[in-house]
Amino acid sequence: MTFEVEQLHPLYAAKISGFDMRRDTNPESVATLKALLDEYAVCAVRHETPLTNEEHIGFGALLGPVARKSMPRIAGTGMRVPYNEIVDQSNLDGDGKIYPDRDKRLAYKRANRLWHTDMSYRSNRATWSLLSAHVVPPEGGETETTDMRAVYDDLPEKMKARLEGLVAEHCYWHSRMLGGGPEPTPEERATRPPAQHSLVHTHPTSGRKVLYIASHVRSIAGMPDDEAKSLLEELRAITLHPEYVYYPWTVGDVLIWDNLVTMHRGTDFDDQKYIRDMRRVTCREE
Ligand code: OGA
Ligand code: MN
Repeated sequence: MTFEVEQLHPLYAAKISGFDMRRDTNPESVATLKALLDEYAVCAVRHETPLTNEEHIGFGALLGPVARKSMPRIAGTGMRVPYNEIVDQSNLDGDGKIYPDRDKRLAYKRANRLWHTDMSYRSNRATWSLLSAHVVPPEGGETETTDMRAVYDDLPEKMKARLEGLVAEHCYWHSRMLGGGPEPTPEERATRPPAQHSLVHTHPTSGRKVLYIASHVRSIAGMPDDEAKSLLEELRAITLHPEYVYYPWTVGDVLIWDNLVTMHRGTDFDDQKYIRDMRRVTCREE
């Protein structure tokens, strides 16, 4: 196997050409890719054509245990991509039509335009996400990422000391409503209870310290809400400083990011005019 690695940002992120997730499935190739992910945190793996759903799930399973949909289906909605291992991140309904503007499911999907890391609202968090582009709009709809190890390293010492030992509560419904979605029903809420995670953790593979925040963060244990809000706003402003942020999208890529050390978001696009068909396979902690 010969492939090329091109660093895309001074701090992290790489484009990998010549690695084929359909073919390079032997243990050495997978270990090589994992090592690149540990180093660069975000890797755009180039392919001429999108992987099939089976190929996509198959490669994800080589990286780690694949998360499966646990939520009951919303009544009356068909699954456009009929695999429990694939998160359909498109703006299309079960019949392949663009969701109307006021559709609740579209409203929840739009929350992906807030900075977050995947599944931080689960005690068993996401490790790698593999996002595959099937159709991208002619303008907008890129995916921005940021390296939270670099962010942590550069924090003032005083801030590092302040964050030591703090625990945040992450809630899926918090970010859905922050993104403009409606209040969930009690049944919906029960499908995704909140989870607690340290604001600073050590990345298991690289050993580097990471600031672990997301749009899902609702509160900080033992801290009054207004104080938590202003602390989170301060951290957000630092995190999103342009020197940390990269927009890594090209059609044909499978973008893989390490959720334990990065944040990401989709950028705006006209989701009433253009189709954007993105599909995600997610690995989770053991
Ligand atoms: C995701 C996500 C953003 C995008 O798939 O987890 O947040 O650009 N996607 O689609
Ligand atoms: Mn996401």
